[in-house]
Amino acid sequence: MSITTDEIDYSALIQPARVNSRLYIDKEIFQEEIEKIWNTTWVYVGHVSEVPNRNDYITKSIGTTPVLLLRDRHGEIRLLLNKCPHRGNQLCAYKEGNRSTFTCPYHAWTFSNTGDLMGVALPDGYEGMSKEGLGLGKVPRLGIYRGFVFGSFAETGPSLDEHLGGAKAAIDQLCDNSPAGELDLRAGYLKHRTKANWKFMLENETDGYHPGFVHGSIFQVTSTRIAELYSKDSSALTRDYGNGHTEFDLRGEWRRIDKPLHWFGSSAEQQPAYVKAMEEAYGPERARKIMIDGTPHTMIFPNLFIAEIQIFVLQPVAVDETIQHVTAVQFKDAPEINRRLRQQTMGSVGPAGMLLADDTEMYERNHRGAWVRDPEWLVLSRGQLRERKDENGYTVGHVTDEVPQRGIWRHYLKLMQE
Ligand code: FES
Ligand SMILES: [Fe+2]
Repeated sequence: MSITTDEIDYSALIQPARVNSRLYIDKEIFQEEIEKIWNTTWVYVGHVSEVPNRNDYITKSIGTTPVLLLRDRHGEIRLLLNKCPHRGNQLCAYKEGNRSTFTCPYHAWTFSNTGDLMGVALPDGYEGMSKEGLGLGKVPRLGIYRGFVFGSFAETGPSLDEHLGGAKAAIDQLCDNSPAGELDLRAGYLKHRTKANWKFMLENETDGYHPGFVHGSIFQVTSTRIAELYSKDSSALTRDYGNGHTEFDLRGEWRRIDKPLHWFGSSAEQQPAYVKAMEEAYGPERARKIMIDGTPHTMIFPNLFIAEIQIFVLQPVAVDETIQHVTAVQFKDAPEINRRLRQQTMGSVGPAGMLLADDTEMYERNHRGAWVRDPEWLVLSRGQLRERKDENGYTVGHVTDEVPQRGIWRHYLKLMQE
């Protein structure tokens, strides 16, 4: 493995069923990813429910760029860059709040939450200066799908609709599990700082080969039957939606068992208020189907992971550092099930959670392994010869197959070569 500053030939590093370790550890590649992926494609930023009222704001990021997701004084959702146009100071240092203006801490220039410069401190000395062109930077394109807010720094390119493609079905599936058809993501985020390249997380979210081993201990102590989902005889699938979006489709197993809320380790009897609300919203037959299928397990490229009962957001910090933001899925107006969703989230991915700690250990070991020179190629061939197309034309395989990983790298190669 040699690391040079020459132009990088990505096609020499990414083959259909193997990738080179250099892709995870090279700082130059990370910089190119910021430009060609994070500053170009659609990136998930946050959810409209995080800014429910006029003048609410919350600080977020797109790749390595800090942004403000806010609902302005007129009620419009906006994505503004968190940088003062005077001398570049971080404009807003608070995590979230409610305000119609932002005043920079450095020299006190003040901006409206529509982004316009309203006034400067000690204005004498700025005789004749126009406020035009001195407003906050904006994310050029903003798109919202069922409350999920995405931004793109590219002025042109595929629409959000085109980018999401078939993966929209996963967001629909998730929202349909809410009696109101909407999420309410205000449980707060846990942040897990991980000393590993972001792509190890991207790949692992839909890696169905590892759960039986990495999570073997949690399956044992909680005496769940989750391990069967990832066993040889499972009917669960891996799916490549294209555009880097991938998933496990566990519905085959849930339909075989045919019990509402079994996917959640619960039952209709344990969640009567939720079941009633679902039946009222969708009618008994459709509600039953939704509650049997459950929520999806889908990784929307590059950073939104719908993990059945959690929403993960990946934030790349450096070539060897990533923050995983995670919050519990919460359904609008469904307090009974929401409580249990929060409890299960804490138990699995909280600070002392039993699931994410195991994965994170794997990410950091993977990253250390990427530095080892020999062998430099990593193998992604599992199930390559048994891939097939589903009824919608998407590639699927057995739940333990590396269909998602091959799909992710195919899309990555396309973006990095553009
Ligand atoms: S840097 Fe913001 S007012 Fe000077
Ligand atoms: Fe895992």
